[in-house]
Amino acid sequence: MADIYNLSPTINGVKFNNIIMNASGCHCTTNDELDELFKSDACAVVSKSCTYDKHIGNPQPRYYDTDLLSINSTGLANEGYKFYAEYPNIIKQSINKPYFMSIAGLKLHENIKILQELFDNDNDTQYDMKLIDFIEVNLSCPNIPGKPQIGYDLESTDNILTSIYEIVGDKANIGVKLPPYFDIQQFGNIADILNKYNLSHITCINSLGNGFVFDDDYGPSIKPNNGYGGIGGAVVKPFGLSNVRQFHKLLPNTPIIGCGGIVTGRDVYEYLLCGASLVQIGTQLVKEGPSVFSRLSTELNSIIDTKKY
Ligand code: DHB
Repeated sequence: MADIYNLSPTINGVKFNNIIMNASGCHCTTNDELDELFKSDACAVVSKSCTYDKHIGNPQPRYYDTDLLSINSTGLANEGYKFYAEYPNIIKQSINKPYFMSIAGLKLHENIKILQELFDNDNDTQYDMKLIDFIEVNLSCPNIPGKPQIGYDLESTDNILTSIYEIVGDKANIGVKLPPYFDIQQFGNIADILNKYNLSHITCINSLGNGFVFDDDYGPSIKPNNGYGGIGGAVVKPFGLSNVRQFHKLLPNTPIIGCGGIVTGRDVYEYLLCGASLVQIGTQLVKEGPSVFSRLSTELNSIIDTKKY
């Protein structure tokens, strides 16, 4: 049987040695966490979504998990964009794996300011854009009160991508992180907009926004936002699979990074069957730590071995 998937893909000239990486937001905020990912068997590393300035984020507890799911309202706790732009300078001297910088300005203007500074060659900064293989624009943070998820608004999505391409042009690989869609019409509408831009990839899905989970004492399991937060983990896998599958059909030439509910090698394999080029691990990485990547690779390889003859 011919392989329908490539276990060492190349995306826009960037080579990946396997297909399993972290999901943004998970184990990727601090220098130590990012170093651990670089040293792990992850094929690539994506940063925490960053804002222009450092943010301490929402009050704790802001993350909670059960066997089936996680809920978080982290509130964009991050070190500020300069930290994530400079981060690869040292680690890439010894470990060369693809690095994605995720950006999530609170307003269109903030994303534009970050990108303008990144691409301003006269800027007296310490970062080297050649070390940032992909910029992933997060259109789907569900946890900022008063700020709707951009990816649910067609006009805002179109506007932000137009503005971004005016600044970046073909100087960098730009991808987007999408929220989960649930309505067939929505897939077609958003795909028509994404299709206008030469995106390096799309990553789907982000967490399911504004879920509610009780703790053992029947109180809200997280403190911010009245207990509402983004849901990830095993329960979201059917939506991750369907989003990857639908976008793969609508945008057959755009590499898709599948995310949502991966716990086992079988889950990774299912994402490949839906058309994912790479997959990202979120909740399970938080629960298990960076050794999750070698476990999943081993489990995936043993499934793939049974498919060969
Ligand atoms: C946060 C959560 C998200 O799902 C996201 O995409 C970006 C940020 C957060 O609360 O920090």
